[in-house]
Amino acid sequence: MTYKIAVLPGDGIGPETIRETLRVLDIAARAFGFSYEADHYPFGGNAIDTHGDPFPAHVRTAVKRADAVLKGAVGGPQWDAGDVRPEMGLLALRAELEVFANVRPVRRWTTRTSSPLKPELAEGIDMVIIRELTGGLYFGPKELDDDHGLDTCAYTRPEVERIARRGFELARQRRGKLCSVDKQNVLSSSKHWRAVVLDVARDYPDVEVTHQLVDSMAMKLVEQPAAYDVIVTENMFGDILSDLAASVGGGIGLAPSSSLGAGRPGLYEAIHGSAPDIAGTGQANPTATILSASMMLRDLGETAAADAIESSVIRLLDEGPVTPDLGGSATTDEFGSAVARAVQTAAEVISR
Ligand code: NAD
Ligand code: IPM
Ligand code: MN
Repeated sequence: MTYKIAVLPGDGIGPETIRETLRVLDIAARAFGFSYEADHYPFGGNAIDTHGDPFPAHVRTAVKRADAVLKGAVGGPQWDAGDVRPEMGLLALRAELEVFANVRPVRRWTTRTSSPLKPELAEGIDMVIIRELTGGLYFGPKELDDDHGLDTCAYTRPEVERIARRGFELARQRRGKLCSVDKQNVLSSSKHWRAVVLDVARDYPDVEVTHQLVDSMAMKLVEQPAAYDVIVTENMFGDILSDLAASVGGGIGLAPSSSLGAGRPGLYEAIHGSAPDIAGTGQANPTATILSASMMLRDLGETAAADAIESSVIRLLDEGPVTPDLGGSATTDEFGSAVARAVQTAAEVISR
């Protein structure tokens, strides 16, 4: 079986992190006996420059035919003033693939470094944020002219139901706790969200469900992040809370994601952006993208390779030279190469 992987390298540090991820995937494929074709496509700011469109028509066709889509971050200041932004391509990609469930695991990947919290607070962080990705404030009716701007947050019952079910199913496989985050003291969309989550909860009596308002959730994620198992929330709330959670977990350079719909292909990308402040300097941490590729392999059924990548990353974050965001001085390339070598060694140990 040869997997067809559509690769969208993106902008800024996107191509830098994707290059290291493909280096790791190449080794993993040879060592664990699977094969893949990685076809690269313009997407985001670079596609605006070459095609006048962040998500050109041929790329739309290609991503839908792929088994998985692996993406680097998009965007940058050079496209901020234009009518068409790279980020519009990203929203269109998520909508086109109908990947309504954005899975953002946050763990304390390494004990050595990097959480801004006191060690005793960061101890044991292991949560998954399930962010609704194709509705809510991002996709409601919009208006913009010189005198006003409008965004609308709307959710239908089926939209809330399907994302809530993803959360409950995952909680069932984990520690059995689900926290739904909303702003039901103010927003109608949130009152509806909470009511639907409560209805769905009846099908999951084995899962302990709690509800938290989004403002105090931001506080709780700083004060007791290890208390959370699965968190399910609206698109915009999930965007904000996942950067916060990633930071307390050890840094945004470590946080991967998958975005899933009803079938294939899934979309796999780091949660961080194109980091224009460090692009081109060799300082980008490729971990988040490498771990996203590990999530991709797990979903494709390549469990041994996914495990080897994950455990190699964890070991190197603890023991190896790390990138400057984690206090080290390794380059993107040095860290990626070290992960690739560790994956090779892990495969040799298994086959002995
Ligand atoms: P950002 O995540 O790019 O950067 C925030 C800070 O984190 C910066 O200081 C950056 O250097 C650092 N950082 C991020 N990733 C890192 C990594 N892998 N290694 C080391 N340090 C890292 O957020 P921003 O500056 O708000 O956004 C920059 C651009 O990225 C914007 O155009 C935004 O729209 C875009 N963006 C794209 C995606 C995506 O494509 N999925 C996600 C988020 C932001
Ligand atoms: C993310 C990003 C995107 C989002 C932007 C770039 C559109 O911040 O993937 O978290 O808001 O979803
Ligand atoms: Mn974000």
